[in-house]
Formats: sequence, C-alpha cells, structure tokens
Amino acid sequence: MKKIQIEKCSHACEPDKCDTFQFMAKKLGMKVLHPGGLDATETIAERCGISPDTIILDAGCGSGSSSIFLARRYGCKVVGVDIDQSLLLKAYTYARKNGLLDKVAFRLVDIHDLPFQDDTFDGALIQAMLIFTEKSKALQMLYQKIRSQGFIGVVELAWKSPPPDKIIKRVGDVLCGAAVNAELHDGWINRLHESGFDVVHAEICDLDFTFGGMLKNEGVASTLRIMFKGFLDESVRRKTGEVTKLFRETRKYLGYGIYIGRKS
Ligand SMILES: C[S@@+](CC[C@H](N)C(=O)[O-])C[C@H]1O[C@@H](n2cnc3c(N)ncnc32)[C@H](O)[C@@H]1O
Repeated sequence: MKKIQIEKCSHACEPDKCDTFQFMAKKLGMKVLHPGGLDATETIAERCGISPDTIILDAGCGSGSSSIFLARRYGCKVVGVDIDQSLLLKAYTYARKNGLLDKVAFRLVDIHDLPFQDDTFDGALIQAMLIFTEKSKALQMLYQKIRSQGFIGVVELAWKSPPPDKIIKRVGDVLCGAAVNAELHDGWINRLHESGFDVVHAEICDLDFTFGGMLKNEGVASTLRIMFKGFLDESVRRKTGEVTKLFRETRKYLGYGIYIGRKS
C-alpha cells in the first residue's frame, strides 16, 4: 500500500477548464461531491443498520466527508480510499480536526486493485464514483472485500429514461466527461445483480440544489465562503449557472439513484 505524501494541492483549476466535480472540489473547496449529499448517505446508513461495530470501505472517498459523517454519527470505523492525493490530504486533516483518527483512515489506493484481504468489510459505500471506473471490475473487487451478508451502498448518476444522443453529449460537455457512463436506473440494478449482490433497495431521485442541503453537507462557514466566492468570481457564477440550467433542461432524463445490495 502506498503512503500518502503530505503536500499542498497543486490543482488551481479554472472552472471552465475542468469537469464539474473538479470544479466543486478544487475551485469551490466543496467536501460533498455526490448527488443527494449526506441525506443520500444517511439513507444508506439507516437502511443498512450501521453501528459502532461496523467496518466500512468508502470507495472513492474524495475529501472524506461521508467517511467522517458516518464515523461521527454512528461511531463506526471507516477506511476511505481514493487516487487523488490532494483530496486525501484534506480528508486526513478534516478527520484530525474532528478528533476521529481512531475511527477513520485514508489510503491512496485504486479501487480496481484493493490491497485488503477478502471479506474484510461489513459494507462498502461508492458514491459518485462508479462512472469513473471499469464498472464490473470495480464492483467485483468490492464484492470480494465485503463479508457474506455485508452491504454495498451506491449513489450514482442515473438515466430515468433512455436519453437522446444530444442530451448525452450536453451532459458530457457541461457536467463531466465521465457522466456519459451513467446507466439507466434498471441498468445499475442489473449491474449489481451481475456482480453477485441481491438488490434490496433502489430509488431514482431528481438532481436538485437546495440551500438546506448545502448547509447540511458543507456547514455554515463553508457555505458562506462558497457563496462569497460565487459573489466575487464571475467564472464561478457562469459555471454554476450552466450546471443549474443543465439540470433543469435534462430533468426528464438525468437523475441519480440510491442502490443497496447485499452479498449473498
Ligand atoms: C465525484 S468524486 C466523489 C467523491 C466522494 N465519493 C463524494 O461523494 O464526495 C469521485 C472520486 O472518485 C475518485 N476516483 C476516481 N477513480 C478512482 C479509482 N480508480 N480509484 C479510487 N478512487 C477513484 C476521484 O479521485 C474522486 O475523489
């Protein structure tokens, strides 16, 4: 397992030159990058009965917001893995500030090649991340690392109905190139089945931005800082406006799904 080098983030992304997830993480400094935010994470946690005895893998943890949320709320142990060192550094710093280093750990690891023993985890969380992976390989890898009767919780962009090519192109251009790897709601359910999971919950939701959601995800101080950035920086306002317009115009097709599977 590689050690995380502690160094400053070198990404100074211009919002127009990077994808929306990079824009949110690197330009706005947002911590929660998956649709549905911590409410979606909480839905999974409640339905899976997470307790202080639970050990969870947060695959593609980014800056660790969900790992930290779960450890703080449920007292469980979480290992977050990601391939972005700068986000892992933020995750570590955030966990240290919250006094949670006895409960959460972060590793620089590619999800396709997880260096853990089989059946290590009681569950895995994979949020806004599958679209960046070789899906079958990533899901099979997670299946191996979860114990029997353990759970997988997926939050991911999903098509509500088959999109025309022009909608796929627009979503790829405005939101993120990898967004075109989203699947139909039923497609995600089938993928989980094919990887060996019994799907025990599946819901499709609208992509919405709410001020209340942002407060819950980012906290008061960060929300104010992000709003202030938008107020001062024209390029931030432009990008935010483009994404909001995209969500409105593609609402009929694009949403996100919350899926829970059990390893049989
Ligand atoms: C959109 S962000 C979501 C982050 C986090 N799950 C959240 O919900 O806030 C996607 C994350 O997946 C990570 N990622 C992409 N490909 C990966 C891979 N092959 N292995 C591990 N992490 C990966 C990225 O670095 C990024 O942090």
